[in-house]
Order: sequence, then structure tokens, then C-alpha cells
Amino acid sequence: MRYRHTIFSALLLALSSTAYAQRLSESSFRPGEVWNDTQGKAINAHGGGFLLYKGTYYWYGEHKTEGEAGNYAQVGVSCYSSRDLYNWKNEGIALPVSKDESSDITKGCILERPKVIYNAKTRKFVMWFHLELKGKGYVSARTGIAVADKPTGPFRYIRSTRSTPGSYPVNMLDLHKGPHGEFKNGVHPDSVNLIGRDLEEGQMARDMQLFVDDDGKAYHICASEENSTLHIAELTEDYTDFTGKYVRAFVNRYMEAPALFKKDGLYYFMGSDCTGWNPNAARSAVAPSIWGPWRELGNPCEGDDKDLTFQSQSTYILPVSGKKNTFIYMGDRWNPKNAIDGRYIWLPIEFEGDRFVIRWHDKWSLDSK
Ligand code: GAL
Repeated sequence: MRYRHTIFSALLLALSSTAYAQRLSESSFRPGEVWNDTQGKAINAHGGGFLLYKGTYYWYGEHKTEGEAGNYAQVGVSCYSSRDLYNWKNEGIALPVSKDESSDITKGCILERPKVIYNAKTRKFVMWFHLELKGKGYVSARTGIAVADKPTGPFRYIRSTRSTPGSYPVNMLDLHKGPHGEFKNGVHPDSVNLIGRDLEEGQMARDMQLFVDDDGKAYHICASEENSTLHIAELTEDYTDFTGKYVRAFVNRYMEAPALFKKDGLYYFMGSDCTGWNPNAARSAVAPSIWGPWRELGNPCEGDDKDLTFQSQSTYILPVSGKKNTFIYMGDRWNPKNAIDGRYIWLPIEFEGDRFVIRWHDKWSLDSK
């Protein structure tokens, strides 16, 4: 009897540990559901950016806390790592906010959409993020830069700046270039005037993205000119500054949440309208060069909820390593009332004719596509 009891308990233990292991080992994406890390804790990396380095993916994002206070940076930028994109290990805080009240990244600032790229020449990991100085709402419109020797950090904060200070965009007519955006030859479109207004201090830099091209050149893409127009700017060889070369794109289209990817030599863009934390219909576009001309392709989403991007806003589009033409749409389902409970919406990108399309899946995996 006693013997039978021992066998029974051993069997129970074996069964429950298999169930436990299965729960820990994910093999599919379930958009919108709570997504636990390998320790069983909800992944906390919002407005994420992704990096593939030596066969491991790194996920950087805003570490949010509970309630509305969680919309401000209380902790810093988190980092997770994964080899299969389903199971993510918490690597801790890659860039902590500062306790020093005089620092640009002091606790309580707004630090959003961190993105990290690797510079093969300097062997540094370079992080850029949208920064709003503490207590000033969204008026600062700056971009912050930090550098690390390892993908997991610690990242050293370098500085923050406006975008491309002192430079005019490549695709701006000379007649529009006034010292302070003054009338020139009778032309005074508002958005062009903003370039002149912000010329010395630098252009406004809000929702942002980084993109590294096949030739190793990197670009900073941000919502500028009071969010009316995106700026696409070239970075220096070490990726820590602007060269000053940039273009205005999607002029007066009020786009945010830029995400870019390249396929078959073409550059694809996805972004959103400007409605704050509330979802809206996404936008997409294609160009033969990063500098444009960008041709809009409309809303890439299809099916129910397509006009709200499945209740999400783009943050990144990831090419999956080793799988041809496989890209993942990554978006945030924001929860501004309880920031920590924002969810992640990852969906496969499909290609149809000259455009890309995103459809909802309750559950999917890279193999089942
Ligand atoms: C969104 C933006 C977010 C955040 C939010 C604040 O439009 O994409 O990153 O800045 O506004 O309202």
C-alpha cells in the first residue's frame, strides 16, 4: 500500500512538472494576452525596439509601473533576451533613470520607444529614445543617446538633443529657407516655418525609430514639426550623432509610431495617425530609397478592427533571421490608466502585390504561417 502511494506521488510530480515546463516554454504568439517571461512574470518592455546580435534577440522597452504614474519613467529601459522570439528572459534594467534631479533622464521624465543598434566599427551598442524633460509634458521633444559595451547594458547615458540642429532638410526649396522661417517670396506654409523656428536649437523629435541599412548606415526617423511631418536623418559612422543630412517625409500627414523594414531592395514604412494613447488606423508606404519618394499604400490592416490596428500602435517591424521574407508586426496596446498592463500585439506581415498586409490571429507561430 505504502509502495503504491509512493509510485502515485512520483507520477503526480512528473505530470505536474511537465505541465510546468510546458507553461514556461512557449511555442506560439498570443497577441493581447499577458505574456510571461521565463520566470513567469509579465514582460515589461513597452514601445519596444529589437536587436539581433550573435543569434540572440534583445527586446528593449519602457519599463512601466502601475497606474497613470506608470506613463512616466520611474525605472528605466528594460531588456529581455530570447533565441526563439517566444521565450524571453529578463535581463534587467539596461538603462536606469537617474536619481540626480539635474539629469535629463531623472526619475519622472518621459522616456519612450527606446531602440538599440550595434555598431560593428566601435563595437558599441547604441540606444536612442524619445525624451521629454521632467515636468514639461511633451514640449521638449528631444532624443536621448546612451551607449553600452554589451547588449544587456549597462548603458551609459551620453546626452539629449533636438534633431539635426543647424541644418536644413535636403528636400526643402531655397525659397522656403528663411533665417527664422520668415515669409520668402510670399511663401509661408506653417510647417516649413517650423523648420526655420527650430533651426538653431534643432528640430522637434518625438515618436522615433532607428533603421540600419545593408551598407551599415544608420538613420533616425522621428515625428517632427509639431508632429505634422516625419524627419528621416542620417547618423554619423559611430551612430551617436546626426550628420546633418535629412529629409522631410509625409509632409503634413501627422504620423507617429514609425516602423521601417527593407525587402527586395524596397523600403517599407508603417506608422499611425496622431491620437495619443488611443488606437487609430495605421498607415503604410513604400520607397525605392530611404530618402524617398515615399508612396503611401494605405492602411495595411485587414479584417475586424482594422481601423484601430487591432487596438494597437506600431513600435517595430522585425525581420526574422533565417526565414526568408518573414517579418513580424510589433505593436503596443496601451493602457494609460494602468500603464504596466499595456499588452503586446505581434502579428505576421503578409505581402500582397506591391503592399504588405496584417491580419489578426488569436494564436500563431512562425512555422504555422
Ligand atoms: C502616442 C505615442 C506614444 C506616447 C503617447 C502619449 O501617440 O505614440 O509613444 O507618446 O502618444 O500620449
